[in-house]
Amino acid sequence: MTAIEHRLLPDTAEVSADGALSIGGVRVADLAAEFGTPLFVYDEAHLRSRCRQAIAEFGADGVVYATKAFLCGAMARLAHEEGLLLDVATGGELFTAVSAGVPAGRCVLHGNNKSLDELRYAVTSGVNHIIVDSFDELDRLDALHAGGLPAPHVQLRITPGVHAHTHEFVSTGQDDSKFGFNLANGDAMRAINRAKSSPSVVLVGIHCHIGSNVLDASLFAKASEVMVDLFRGLDLPEITLGGGLGVAYTADDDAPTMRQWADAIRTATASLPQGTKVRVEPGRSIVAAAGVTVYTVGTVKKIAGIRDYIAVDGGMSDNPRPMMYASPYEAFDPARTDADRPHRARIVGKHCESGDIVIDDAAVPENVAVGDLLVTPVTGAYGYSMASNYNKVPRPAVVFVADGAARLVVRRETYEDLIRHDV
Ligand code: LLP
Repeated sequence: MTAIEHRLLPDTAEVSADGALSIGGVRVADLAAEFGTPLFVYDEAHLRSRCRQAIAEFGADGVVYATKAFLCGAMARLAHEEGLLLDVATGGELFTAVSAGVPAGRCVLHGNNKSLDELRYAVTSGVNHIIVDSFDELDRLDALHAGGLPAPHVQLRITPGVHAHTHEFVSTGQDDSKFGFNLANGDAMRAINRAKSSPSVVLVGIHCHIGSNVLDASLFAKASEVMVDLFRGLDLPEITLGGGLGVAYTADDDAPTMRQWADAIRTATASLPQGTKVRVEPGRSIVAAAGVTVYTVGTVKKIAGIRDYIAVDGGMSDNPRPMMYASPYEAFDPARTDADRPHRARIVGKHCESGDIVIDDAAVPENVAVGDLLVTPVTGAYGYSMASNYNKVPRPAVVFVADGAARLVVRRETYEDLIRHDV
């Protein structure tokens, strides 16, 4: 197999004459030496350019960054600086955003099972609006209002009955879903009528999100058309059409561009009254390809007639996606970025599970040896954010690189961190 395709690398990736990869003007080998591995490296220019692209397509105030894809203080600030609202799906995400200096008024609270405490936190801190997901949540908002809190602006999450045809675990728009009010069985209209006449909430719009890593732009059009049909009779100012734009993880993938996504949504919403606020909530498409993971090879095991195993110093604790969704990735050696990768190997992590697989059947360069670095590109979304401490492995550090400089934005966890909560 051939060398890694440069389209999978962050925007500022460059390969020097000796084959060494740099991102943001900093050599990846130097980053590994300074910050250790495993290491998440984000290209700040790439992050900002995706934010700007989204704003260019959907307008100022039209883009809500889904922080679940990747959140830390630096990312919250970056998205806020670029003019994006922030989708926070829990009290913890709201706290992280607000602690980073993002005004609560620029945050939107999501979640299919928000607790009374989370709702109280959102209302008292003054979030922009809450995406209400159930009748139980409307009951809780009634209780908070009865207790003297102001009525928050809300949108209602609707399940439009459109299947995203992505992995079952991340498909959310179909009728059989834990998310939202079902349109087909009448729950959606019942919720809309209740919210419209309720003193506890100010209904400002409706919302849908059909799923994540959607690679077929026509599905966005389909869901948007269903939502627009519903929206037309409601006389409301806002409609949010979710996130879900997929990305290419490997050379085999082809994902719609942000422009194609926007075109699908523009066409579907063209008939809406002038002044209707149409919003989207991209997560993955903002951060996935901006980030790479740098590992160090620790063990190479060749089992003749069966396969080669290459074990790296992370695994399912920094990237559970291969295990959860059988998501494919690619890997290469950043010391010889453009080298052919004629060999096959299973790249595995350091956890006590046979399923702890980073790449099941990876193309790798010749003679991968202990001590080499391996980079998996397109790990910027749902990697760090779903990282765990399984086997008491400290979570990796995260660095942002730009203009020849690296800044640590999340420090590597220490062993002390691992026992911090023990009592
Ligand atoms: N809006 C809502 C309401 C969502 O639930 C999500 C993602 C998004 C927006 C952003 O979707 P994106 O643009 O990132 O596709 N852990 C899975 C993905 C779960 C997505 C959950 N919701 C993965 O690693 O693929």
